[in-house]
Amino acid sequence: MSAEIGFIGAGKMAEALIGGLIAKGVFDRDGIVACAPSAATRERVASTQGIRVLETAKDVCSEAGIVVLAVKPKHVPEVFAEGLDLSGKLLISIVAGLTLDKMNSYVPDTKNVRVMPNHCCMVLEGAMGYCCDQSLTDSDRARVASILEAVGLAVEVREDYMDAITGIAGSSPAFLYMVIDAMSDAGVLNGLSRADSIRLAAQSMLGAAKMVLETGKHPDVLRDEVCSPGGATIVGVRAAEDLGLRSAMIAAVDATVERSRDMSR
Ligand SMILES: NC(=O)c1ccc[n+]([C@@H]2O[C@H](COP(=O)([O-])OP(=O)(O)OC[C@H]3O[C@@H](n4cnc5c(N)ncnc54)[C@H](OP(=O)(O)O)[C@@H]3O)[C@@H](O)[C@H]2O)c1
Repeated sequence: MSAEIGFIGAGKMAEALIGGLIAKGVFDRDGIVACAPSAATRERVASTQGIRVLETAKDVCSEAGIVVLAVKPKHVPEVFAEGLDLSGKLLISIVAGLTLDKMNSYVPDTKNVRVMPNHCCMVLEGAMGYCCDQSLTDSDRARVASILEAVGLAVEVREDYMDAITGIAGSSPAFLYMVIDAMSDAGVLNGLSRADSIRLAAQSMLGAAKMVLETGKHPDVLRDEVCSPGGATIVGVRAAEDLGLRSAMIAAVDATVERSRDMSR
C-alpha cells in the first residue's frame, strides 16, 4: 500500500477530515490520497491539502489501507459499480442513511463503519456518532476513533441509535444557529450592532458548551451558578421557560429523529 488512508470523494466533508488528520498529525500528507471525477476538484484539493488526488475510487482502493466513503448518497451505487477491491480493509462511510447492511451488500468482506457527523467538522469541532460491524477488532475500533476524533467528538453507538444521532448531532447545528440568530435580534433590539450581537451570542454558546464539556457539570448546575437570587438572569430564565424554550428544543430534535427513522424505513 502506498497510502495509509484514502478518500472516495474530495468535497467539503472529505476536506474537513483530511485537514483535521493533517493538523492533528494522525497521518502525514504523503499517507493520504483522495479522488474526485472532476479535474477542478482534483486540482483544488491537491493544492489546498498538499495530497495526491486521483481520478477514480478504484485508484484509491488499490493504494490505501483504510478507505473513507465521502460521496453524496446518490453517487454510492456508481462508486461500488467500479468493482472496488476492499477485501479485509476498513471502510468508513460518512454517507447519510447508508446502513451497515447496505454496505455489506456491496462489500461483504470489508470491515464496515457507518458515521453520522455534522458539518462543524469543518472547524474541527464536529459531533458524531458511529457504529461498527462485528468484524472490527479492538485495534480497528481504536484506529477509527483516532481518525474521527481528528475533527471533533466521536461516540460509538449501536446502529439503531443512528437516527437519534442525526437529531442530536447531525442536524442540531441548524437549531443552534437559529438560537444565535434570535439572540442577536435581542441584541439589536437593545441597541447593539448586528455584527457584535452575532459574535457575542456565538461566543456565549461556544463558552457554555466548553463549560459543560470541560467541567463535567450537569447543565442545570451551571445554569444555577449564573442565576443570582433575585437577579436579572433568573428573570430571563423564567421568560424562556414561559415561552417553551426547552419544549421547543426537545421537539426540534425529536421531530428530526422521527423524520430520519421514516427516511430509513
Ligand atoms: N455536508 C454536511 O454537513 C454533511 C453532514 C453529515 C454527513 N454528510 C455526508 O457526507 C457526504 C459528503 O458530503 P459533502 O458535503 O462533502 O459533499 P460534496 O461536497 O458534494 O462532495 C462530494 C464529493 O464526491 C465526489 N464524487 C462524486 N461522484 C464520485 C464518484 N463516482 N467517485 C468518487 N468521487 C465522487 C465529488 O467530486 P466532484 O467534486 O468532482 O464532483 C465531490 O468531491 C454525503 O454523503 C453526506 O450525506 C455531509
